[in-house]
Amino acid sequence: MTTIQTIGVIGAGQMGSGIVHVCAQAGYNVCMLDISEDRVKAGLANIDKNMTRQVSKGKLSEADKAAALGRIKTGTDYAIFKACDLVVEAATEDEVIKKKILTTLVPHLSTTAIVASNTSSISITRLAAATDRPAKFIGMHFMNPVPVMQLVEVIRGIATDDATHDTVVAVAKKLGKITAESEDFPGFIVNRILLPMINEAVYALHEGVGDVHAIDTGMKLGANHPMGPLELADFIGLDTCLAIMQVLYDGLADSKYRPCPLLVKYVEAGWLGRKTGKGFYDYSGEMPKPTR
Ligand code: CAA
Repeated sequence: MTTIQTIGVIGAGQMGSGIVHVCAQAGYNVCMLDISEDRVKAGLANIDKNMTRQVSKGKLSEADKAAALGRIKTGTDYAIFKACDLVVEAATEDEVIKKKILTTLVPHLSTTAIVASNTSSISITRLAAATDRPAKFIGMHFMNPVPVMQLVEVIRGIATDDATHDTVVAVAKKLGKITAESEDFPGFIVNRILLPMINEAVYALHEGVGDVHAIDTGMKLGANHPMGPLELADFIGLDTCLAIMQVLYDGLADSKYRPCPLLVKYVEAGWLGRKTGKGFYDYSGEMPKPTR
């Protein structure tokens, strides 16, 4: 097993900043990269906000917060990853973008560095093939919100070696997470099951079985889910939901995974959920208001 001291994270968005948060809090030195200083700043502000929330709830001391923030280095140049033992890619759920990032990344790494992808659905074996180190490449799929959710799905590609697997499982444990092993199939375990449910909720809305409020209330109170499926879709991001459904549809070649046309329409409208202020709910007021 490799000893991990410094972790790089590519992407300062919802997932990337969450991963940086838990790594820094667990005592790792962290390097966070995004394509612009503005995005990096927004990621840092998000970490600060979530740590402040932990402080106000008495779950983190001011001193530990300051120490964790002090362990985070940021930048827009891949050279910051030179000393990293592990780099986690958490960019947009798009295979072309992810492969381009991985190709750019690897020349900056030490030969022993492990590369993990936080992809929520794309083949680890295919992403690994875009690097110079398929044996040291693995899927490490965090759940949103990362500081709260206990699970990390671990996905080995066809070439992933045992040392890489064991190292990444040990890191997840140090982050306070519990791992579940998934084979490298489209959507892995969580999204293979979760996204068809969300897609079905959008079909129910599309066909007029119920409105947004009725569908979410039904699943919250009728199935004890913490969020209704449409609220959860807005939380994940409708573009990400659509991208995952497309991976399931293409990769499993079964019409039962066909993305709902209403989901496609919302994404085409730029209504991507919470991050754009509008999705199945409108977030511009004090309380989220159903858009249907
Ligand atoms: N970041 C950090 N912490 C957060 C947070 C965030 N964005 N949102 C909430 N929290 C924390 C709160 O501080 C609080 O912490 P404590 O328990 O320590 O006090 C805790 O979460 C609960 O928060 P609240 O009481 O404010 O709100 P809640 O009870 O409504 O819970 C929730 C919020 C945890 C998000 C809950 O609604 C939930 O579990 N929702 C479902 C989330 C889910 O299914 N995630 C998986 C998405 S799928 C995925 O990620 C995979 C993929 O690839 C698409």
